Amino acid sequence: MKKKQLIIDIFEYENYAELNTEDQKLLKKAKEITDNSYAPYSNFHVGAAVLLENGEIITGANQENAAYPSGLCAERVAIFWANSQYPGVAVKSIAVIARKEQKFVEKPVAPCGACRQVLLETEKRYNQPIKIILAGENRVDIIENAQSLLPVNFDKEALK
Ligand code: THU
Repeated sequence: MKKKQLIIDIFEYENYAELNTEDQKLLKKAKEITDNSYAPYSNFHVGAAVLLENGEIITGANQENAAYPSGLCAERVAIFWANSQYPGVAVKSIAVIARKEQKFVEKPVAPCGACRQVLLETEKRYNQPIKIILAGENRVDIIENAQSLLPVNFDKEALK
């Protein structure tokens, strides 16, 4: 038996002003798109903004459904839309934020397992790290790639 230890880096920022202008802009877009969330069941409005290698910014918001599992998280709405519109273009970064009713959450929102899997697939597809920017009302956590969010994962190698 051998023990393996995995360490992930999370860069914590105390406020948005500490971020570079590109990340600040992306976060602003993520915040704005929470207005297009359809979340009558949870009242948890999530916004995601994806920056592509070609400079395009694609945004998405969570879409719920009376049949609960039929809804989709903001991250996957944005990533799937980006991959559908620009199938050959790598994803550089994604910013995510959420608000309960009108108040943005204090603690940065962390993507669910399914969204991590989709982020990982996209990262591997374009062979380029996706910078993950998770925001609260003030604090921001930055994780340098999707692999760090899902270190022990299922991927295409397993299907060979
Ligand atoms: N949700 C997201 O859109 N992204 C996350 O990272 C966490 C959860 C959505 C799914 C559902 O519409 C609502 O938030 C409550 O779980």
